[in-house]
Amino acid sequence: MNVIRFSDLCARGQVTGKRVFIRADLNVPQDDAGNITEDTRIRASVPCIRMALEAGAAVMVTSHLGRPTEGVFTPADSLAPVATRLAELLGRPVPLLQNWVDGVSVQAGEVVLLENCRVNKGEKKNNEELAKKMAALCDIFVHDAFGTAHRAEASTYGIAQFAKVACAGPLLAAEMDAITLALANPKRPMVAIVAGSKVSTKLTILKSLASKVDQLIVGGGIANTFMLAAGLKIGKSLAEPDLLDDARAVIEAMRARGAAVPIPTDVVTAKTFAADAPATVKAATDVADDDLILDIGPQTAALLAAQLKVAGTIVWNGPVGVFEFPAFENGTRVIAHAIAESSAFSIAGGGDTLAAIAKYGIEKQIGYISTGGGAFLEVLEGKTLPAFEILTRRASA
Ligand code: 3PG
Repeated sequence: MNVIRFSDLCARGQVTGKRVFIRADLNVPQDDAGNITEDTRIRASVPCIRMALEAGAAVMVTSHLGRPTEGVFTPADSLAPVATRLAELLGRPVPLLQNWVDGVSVQAGEVVLLENCRVNKGEKKNNEELAKKMAALCDIFVHDAFGTAHRAEASTYGIAQFAKVACAGPLLAAEMDAITLALANPKRPMVAIVAGSKVSTKLTILKSLASKVDQLIVGGGIANTFMLAAGLKIGKSLAEPDLLDDARAVIEAMRARGAAVPIPTDVVTAKTFAADAPATVKAATDVADDDLILDIGPQTAALLAAQLKVAGTIVWNGPVGVFEFPAFENGTRVIAHAIAESSAFSIAGGGDTLAAIAKYGIEKQIGYISTGGGAFLEVLEGKTLPAFEILTRRASA
């Protein structure tokens, strides 16, 4: 990767006394009361901030949180809970600053958090004027937001164009190195689990993986569409009937290579989407018109677990059922433990996947946990992410 690395600038003493603007991805899930429910991204952002502080920089950090309306700030958009968690992790105060685009007061050796950057008008569309103002706040721009590396926004792309120096933070660099290395020469058989509500949002990754992996396990609404494509009934389950041809093309592409998309042989159904809805295990051929499929059945889970245990490489993105509801978590739990027990190198990414990993306490048994969701998938597809494109360009300028 031909980019300037922030760690190199620190090692060369080029950061001391400088104003450093770090774009992190601190977009973490919260419950209705605003409590952070999963803090992997905050913990993963700490090394870059520490590195900057230890190098003697005046440190500004920002992130988006959710997808707020630009120009309208509501309390739910605030990074306040993130500032509190960050302060705990850093063991020092982290003041949260509002309305920061026109100027930030911060001294060398201090860190401030700049409120949700997506509230600034022009952020999403990478407005040049906004990007230039942000670039003027710093001497060094550090892109450390791997989870947002697939977006070209003012705080991720435009600022990198206009800042005096634009470089990759340690998390951004490590993510790219790890994923690329793991997939460069994967140990076979290679199994990918791609699950989620819609085929449409993951169609390109499904097509791309269909030419690479030996088993492509689909889950959630995606699996329902594949079941339909395989001629099974899915009742009133979530699916995208207009993408049946795409699903069939993926199945065919896999079959032509001697690989497979395992279709569930049994499922767990309910009549309503609710945590307390009675769960019924039934054969995949017995799904009734008023059934909702909310998990794979135990027979399917056991079969997939056996395949995962003998895999050489596992890529995991998405839970295979509604694992938040205890009655429909069995499939995801069995798969999670199978991945944990497998000797395969496993690589996992995506918000729900991180939540499942945390729920089953298997963090230490996963080879590499990415902080990216969409960005993780785009790297797997082999795309050049905007973050790397602009940082590479700045390194050679
Ligand atoms: C994510 O949650 O995947 C990243 O923070 C990017 O968020 P976005 O999809 O809203 O750009």
